Amino acid sequence: MSARVLSNPSQLVIRNCEWLSCNQLLVLGMPADGLGRELLQENIAEEVYGLTRDFSVYTAIKNDWSEESQLTLQYGSEIESLDKQWDGVLIFLQKSKPLMDFWLAMIASLLKEDTVVWLVGENSEGIKSWRKRLKQNFAAVKNMDNARHCSLIEASESLSNNTEFSKSEYYSAYELQVRGTPMPLFSLPGVFSHGRVDVGTAVLLDTFDTFDTFDTFDTGRVLDFGCGAGVVAGFLGQLNPDAHFTLVDSDALALESSTRTLQENNVQNFNVVASDGLSEVSGEFDLIVSNPPFHQGVKTHYAVTEQFLAESAQRLRKGGELRIVANSFLRYEPIIKQAFGDCKTLVVKKGFSIYQAFKR
Ligand SMILES: C[S@@+](CC[C@H](N)C(=O)[O-])C[C@H]1O[C@@H](n2cnc3c(N)ncnc32)[C@H](O)[C@@H]1O
Repeated sequence: MSARVLSNPSQLVIRNCEWLSCNQLLVLGMPADGLGRELLQENIAEEVYGLTRDFSVYTAIKNDWSEESQLTLQYGSEIESLDKQWDGVLIFLQKSKPLMDFWLAMIASLLKEDTVVWLVGENSEGIKSWRKRLKQNFAAVKNMDNARHCSLIEASESLSNNTEFSKSEYYSAYELQVRGTPMPLFSLPGVFSHGRVDVGTAVLLDTFDTFDTFDTFDTGRVLDFGCGAGVVAGFLGQLNPDAHFTLVDSDALALESSTRTLQENNVQNFNVVASDGLSEVSGEFDLIVSNPPFHQGVKTHYAVTEQFLAESAQRLRKGGELRIVANSFLRYEPIIKQAFGDCKTLVVKKGFSIYQAFKR
């Protein structure tokens, strides 16, 4: 059993334990801290069901949660245990408004008349504006507490219970032109660059027209690290239909979006892997390609990407290529040089740099 420091939003929840009480509590978007056990110890709930879309949160707390029979943790995009009678729902505010709307619609179909919903989050992330927003879904909304730069809001008397929820309605569909042909893309709420192609990603993809020097890529194994909505693998799948693609992301919604994008583009040879960094990835690759993460989530994503770059040389076969895009101000070149012995800057454009290295 490990004692974890509570995040500020979790501390605000616990300090209100006297007023938060339920039998079955659903928690959405919890941080990677020791909140699960605290919710039981402080008698906030008798049973807690946590849903996380973030594989790094899941791996950080799953052992803690599995030690308590009243704690159930699920990694995924949508609640699997639909037989539960939630009388409390605790939501940790997310930066993505479309994701919050997605969650509110998802829980609306599960709420009983007397279910109470608590929303907690950092003031800097705009929690205060959610009091007004929640009034669209609940007849009673009140501010419960403010402390540690966070606020806790209570909402009850749902105006939309028993509404049908269908995840497929939440896909955003958009397009990318690949050599004059439109390529359909699909993303769920909260996925990176939801509904549009990121500028850095577009700069990366352009380099495959000019610098397609990779000889065995046609039938090779390609790793798309931090795949998001599957833009990169989907694009390369159009250019090289015989290659095999492994798409990796920590975000369950990203993996589902990628699966849909690749299926709709008739890319046949692919698998998706939920992973924190390369922890769950096995095998050797001919090409590793990525628009790697930075600055959000549990760890500073600098660290995730630095580790990915350092490890990627070991995941390539001899002669295999690493090609990534990054904001030009990020100091990735020295890390790549250290891992590969060399690093070439293919393009610098629109504030982004494309780096290329080969396994010797
Ligand atoms: C900059 S986005 C790129 C998305 C997509 N490839 C594109 O170009 O649009 C980085 C991706 O890395 C994922 N990510 C963040 N942390 C991760 C981690 N620890 N392990 C694996 N993937 C992670 C994010 O969910 C996000 O989808």
